[in-house]
This record gives sequence, C-alpha cells and structure tokens, in this order.
Amino acid sequence: MIRLFPEEASSIAREVDRLSIGLLGITGFFVVVVAAPLFYFAIKYRRGSTADRSGPSSGSLALEIGWTLVPLAIALGLFIWGSIIYVRLQAVPRDTLPVHVVAKRWMWKFHHEQGNREINELHVPLGKPISLLMTSQDAIHSFYVPAFRVKQDVVPGKYTATWFVPTKTGRFPLLCAEYCGTDHSRMRGEIIVMDPDDYAQWLTTADGAAEPLAMAGARLFRDLGCSGCHGTGSVVPSPPLEGLFGRQVTLAGGGSVIADENYLRDSILLPASKIVAGYENVMPTYEGQLEEEQILQLVAYIKSIARREPQSVYQGAR
Ligand code: CUA
Repeated sequence: MIRLFPEEASSIAREVDRLSIGLLGITGFFVVVVAAPLFYFAIKYRRGSTADRSGPSSGSLALEIGWTLVPLAIALGLFIWGSIIYVRLQAVPRDTLPVHVVAKRWMWKFHHEQGNREINELHVPLGKPISLLMTSQDAIHSFYVPAFRVKQDVVPGKYTATWFVPTKTGRFPLLCAEYCGTDHSRMRGEIIVMDPDDYAQWLTTADGAAEPLAMAGARLFRDLGCSGCHGTGSVVPSPPLEGLFGRQVTLAGGGSVIADENYLRDSILLPASKIVAGYENVMPTYEGQLEEEQILQLVAYIKSIARREPQSVYQGAR
C-alpha cells in the first residue's frame, strides 16, 4: 500500500496533517470551480458551434465584491490556522529533555546532557518533550523527521532549536533537508523512540556514556583558564556567570539581551560584540580555538550554574 502521508508519530503531526489536507481540499475545490466552466465554455463555444455569441456585457457589483472578499477571508483564515501551528512548533516548552545536536558533512552528532553521545542515531523516551539545540560545523543543514512533522535549519555560527513529543515507539527516519554537498542525500539517521524504562536503561548501559556535559564544561572552564577571570576571587573585574543564564543583561552602550544559548556562544567566540554594562572589553576571543562540542559543554556548564532552573530556554535561539 502506498502511504499518502508518513506515519504520525509526534504530538503535532495530526495538526500539521489536518492543515495540509485542508489546504489540499480548498485548492482542489478551486481547481474544480475554475476548470469545470473552462471545459464547459471551451466546448460550448468551439469553432463551428451555433451558440449565441452576441453576449451583451453586464456587471454585478455584488459579485465583484463577493469574489474579492471571500478569497480574502479564506486566505486570512489559512494564514491564522498555519500561524497557530507554526508558533506552537517554534515555542519550545519548559521542562524538556534537552539534546545537543552538531551537524557536519555528512552526519548528525547527538550529545545528551548526561554525557551519552551518538552519531546518526538518537534515542529518546516516549511521551516526553524533547528539545534540540542545534548547530553546524560547516554548511547549512536541516534537521527533518517526517514522522514528527519537524523540520528546522541547522546553521553554522549560531544555535537553532526545535522540539517534539514522540507519541509512538519505534524507529523513525531522520533526513537532511538542505542541500549541503556531495553526500547530502546520505546524511540520514534514525530517531529511536523507547519506552521510558528502556530509555533509562539505555542511558546507563549504552556505549559512549561519559561525564555529563555540564561537568565536562566545568573542567574545560578551568583548563582554558576561564576561571582565572570569571572564577571567584579573581582580580580582573569580570561579569559574574552564576545565575546568568536566562537573565536580562544590560549592555554597554544601551540595550539589553536575554542571556540565552546564543548569547553565551557569542560571548565566548565574539566577546567584543556584546559588552556587559560597567565592564571593559578585555576578554580574548576563542573563535577558531574550540570545537562545537566544547562550546556546547561550556554553555551547558554556564546553564548549570544558573541560580534558578533555567528560564527562557531557546527562546532567542533562532
Ligand atoms: Cu546536510 Cu544536506
């Protein structure tokens, strides 16, 4: 049997399908409305037919207004319908299970907070919202899981985010949906949705289990000498990092930003771009010196020392 739509395996899939079917229905309806008279008139007024062609011209204001306003209403309705779903897809909820994704030609690398790493396979528990914080090491890729109706560009130099709630156990194909070079079509993977118990089991027994991201970040923070300035007891005046994540930061020269993942990333790689009000621009750049994984670890560490539970997760990440 040929499937018209891929399996619906996430909480949003049904709604996305309804929208697609709705669009298909409305466009199908207008195809008929336009094409049926087209054929009718083509036959009626074909060459040699005796149909009356005197046709005095006539107008109808009501008709003109009608065929302007009705399509307008339909188009606006579709816009609102689509926007509601889109906004829902974009707004990452709180209390998700975060996974960090690094794309490169031509593979997907996944880092779980607990330290597990995977390539081209992502294990997740059933029924739990999973959020992905993603970046690319080279070209623009696109994280696409048809069964979840989730597609999000993965861009070098910044973080983008997406999320989903898996509603079926099983293996679901992951594709790259942005042409990224020779082996783009082979840049595939699988999302493996497991029962929560199996998942918990997997976390502890899988290969690649390692130290949690935040702990690796803390170690890196010392090794790179970050703690020399940002640690307690440092003589160099530097903005405190404890409790920073998710907070509003006032910048030198006016304006403010929310300290989200992209802000942390920029502050490590391009420290001169956003100086915190009241501080000098003295931090050296770490651009070109860190692997994406290391940046993720540092970001995870700084998130882990947020005073409260991290807020505004990913809100500025796209
Ligand atoms: Cu990665 Cu196409």
